[in-house]
Amino acid sequence: MSDRIVVTGGAGYIGSHVCVELLSRGASLLVIDNFANSHPEAVTRIQEIANADVVLLERDMADPAHKTDIVKAVKDFRPDGGIHLAGLKAVGESVAEPARYYSVNIGSALTLIEALEAANARTIVFSSSATVYGEDNANPVDEAGATAPTNPYGRTKYFIEDMIKDIARSDDKWRAVNLRYFNPVGAHPSGKIGEDPNGLPNNLFPFIAQVAVGRREKLSVFGNDYPTSDGTGIRDYIHVSDLARGHAAALSYLHQQETGCAIDVNLGTGVGYSVLEAVAAFKRASNRDIPYEIVPRRDGDIAEIYANASLAQKLFNWRAEKSLKEMCADHWRWQSQNPDGYTD
Ligand code: UFG
Repeated sequence: MSDRIVVTGGAGYIGSHVCVELLSRGASLLVIDNFANSHPEAVTRIQEIANADVVLLERDMADPAHKTDIVKAVKDFRPDGGIHLAGLKAVGESVAEPARYYSVNIGSALTLIEALEAANARTIVFSSSATVYGEDNANPVDEAGATAPTNPYGRTKYFIEDMIKDIARSDDKWRAVNLRYFNPVGAHPSGKIGEDPNGLPNNLFPFIAQVAVGRREKLSVFGNDYPTSDGTGIRDYIHVSDLARGHAAALSYLHQQETGCAIDVNLGTGVGYSVLEAVAAFKRASNRDIPYEIVPRRDGDIAEIYANASLAQKLFNWRAEKSLKEMCADHWRWQSQNPDGYTD
């Protein structure tokens, strides 16, 4: 791959794995990150793993004062396209501060779109989420499933998907894929990069990992009275390296398209696991105890969701390959080698 790609949010959890994947395929990268929820050390480690350098621009995609710099840097880089991962992603925070979420997430996407237009590189892969589906769909959920996000964070993802489709409809030079991620977990097998949440983790795997490593006393399991096999919520966990390969596959697909397009594509494994199954698998992989207690359901959670991932297979020739066991082993390697994440 001789592509030149702009990766916004490239130092983040998913972005860092996407960078390693693209670099290992020979791509050249311009990483734009403001390190609001990521660490410069991640960029150092990406370069170590891939044995290649990236061009780094420390700017805020949502700050109007940074826009001129960003547009110029993107133009100067002469990219073939962009992957947009920069944004805010905490559901609870988005309920408390919706205006900030709309402003940052939508503003960032628009800045990249404008910069790619200025650079005459109208190819974009957008980091969307299965959260756009809400809870009214039968499983496995395919891309025609009803969209009904239940919080402002999810709505920013949904609005950006639609915005990208409007832009692609208006100009057939645009080629776009909205990737609807299911639940990304795990880490690069080297243990050098991984998820390093700020403060109390919102998501299951980083929480379990911090309990396993002794940073937290016990996991709270949010409800065991769902209509599922063991009463706990079921999700489609996908290894972040499989997810990263999905971005490379989406870019290859877009480069082969002769006319404009904007499509939504699920990235999941197609298999769901319950919270207690995930805890048991992590316990085996880490050989550590994971104490937990059952607490009431968390607002906004749904009982069960897993992907129909056949469109990604058909269009991109991509499928998830790594098992829950590998997700846990790799997540644990990262957490045990970096108990405090990317510390200074
Ligand atoms: N869970 C717990 N305890 C925890 C954390 C999670 O029991 O401490 C349970 C949840 O109730 C759910 C499952 O573990 O059943 C997975 O929860 P996560 O928070 O890890 O993931 P979600 O499915 O809630 O998150 C997904 C995406 C997010 C997105 C969210 C929107 O991964 O990026 O949907 O609702 F924000």
